[in-house]
Amino acid sequence: MSYSRITGTGSYLPERVVTNKDLEKTMDTSDEWIRERTGIRRRHIAADGERCSDMALAAAHQAMEMAEIEPEEIDLIIVGTVTPDKIFPSTACIIQRRLGIRGCPAFDIQAACSGFIYALDLANRQIQTGAAKTALVIGSEILSRLTNWDDRATAVLFGDGAGAVILQASDEPGIVSTHIHSDGRYEDLLHVPEGIGTSLEGLLVEGAFIRMDGNAVFRRAVATLGSIAQETLANNGIDKHDVDWLVPHQANLRIISAAAKKLDLSMDHVVVTVDEHANTSSASIPLALNTAIRDGRIERGQLLLFEAFGAGFTWGSALVRY
Ligand code: ACO
Repeated sequence: MSYSRITGTGSYLPERVVTNKDLEKTMDTSDEWIRERTGIRRRHIAADGERCSDMALAAAHQAMEMAEIEPEEIDLIIVGTVTPDKIFPSTACIIQRRLGIRGCPAFDIQAACSGFIYALDLANRQIQTGAAKTALVIGSEILSRLTNWDDRATAVLFGDGAGAVILQASDEPGIVSTHIHSDGRYEDLLHVPEGIGTSLEGLLVEGAFIRMDGNAVFRRAVATLGSIAQETLANNGIDKHDVDWLVPHQANLRIISAAAKKLDLSMDHVVVTVDEHANTSSASIPLALNTAIRDGRIERGQLLLFEAFGAGFTWGSALVRY
């Protein structure tokens, strides 16, 4: 059986930056409240007409350049997203066309903020079995289009962006293990109420935006991220002190700090981008990973722990020897 290794990373952030101060002008909020409760200072917001696949493609090109591969070498494309260009075909198929390749499987995964971890899990297993050799795994989100800009409880939390990795077959790990879970009982705590299968009138009205019970999600996220970290370490017989970097889903600095505390990890070993990017759902982990690799914090040979939690609820982790 083969292993898979991350050989390239890339990311993309829309040009337009919206600061907390900018939000103060349009809603009853303050820079201080947002920073204290979430750690967020600014977020990037996609331009009119900019689509999930545009951002995903830009991130993919960067990752391919780092991995030194041509599009023809890619034999699997998975995109984690809750904001695809179209309901169908998948954004992954659109990326495939835009890369000028054909034939390999290409599909989207919808696991909310855990989408990238789910995609990584699947791609890793495809490579382990020999079904694929070079996978393009992307998280790309335009959450600003699912945001009710009149709801201060959610509007301050989200941003747009994309991150991508190239995963390639290798004799050594690489991806040491991945772990994914869901519990559908919590549907109503974090959701976009309207969708296909409700009513025609319901679409594109207020039900088409994110709704969340912030306190309940917060509590559940902290508890679950603690347990998924334990599961991952125990599964591999690894001590928490062996982890060089925690690369968590970037939802809220307080959730991230609580997760780091449970691992007895100083914040110097936690990649934090939520201040600059806000919550970009499935894009947040590959965006954070790419940032810390390109600025030299994460080095080859180090042990990384990715962990995510999102609507569903879904959650998951990956232990990665970079
Ligand atoms: N600006 C100013 N005041 C606000 C804002 C705002 N943007 N939003 C809410 N408030 C007010 C509330 O109305 C409330 O006022 P009141 O006391 O007069 O009633 C007060 O601030 C406190 O509100 P809470 O909701 O209790 O604030 P809390 O400390 O729980 O923080 C938050 C809210 C930031 C949403 C927090 O619950 C949280 O981070 N939850 C996790 C949810 C999350 O991150 N979801 C993202 C998707 S899931 C994921 O990615 C894990």
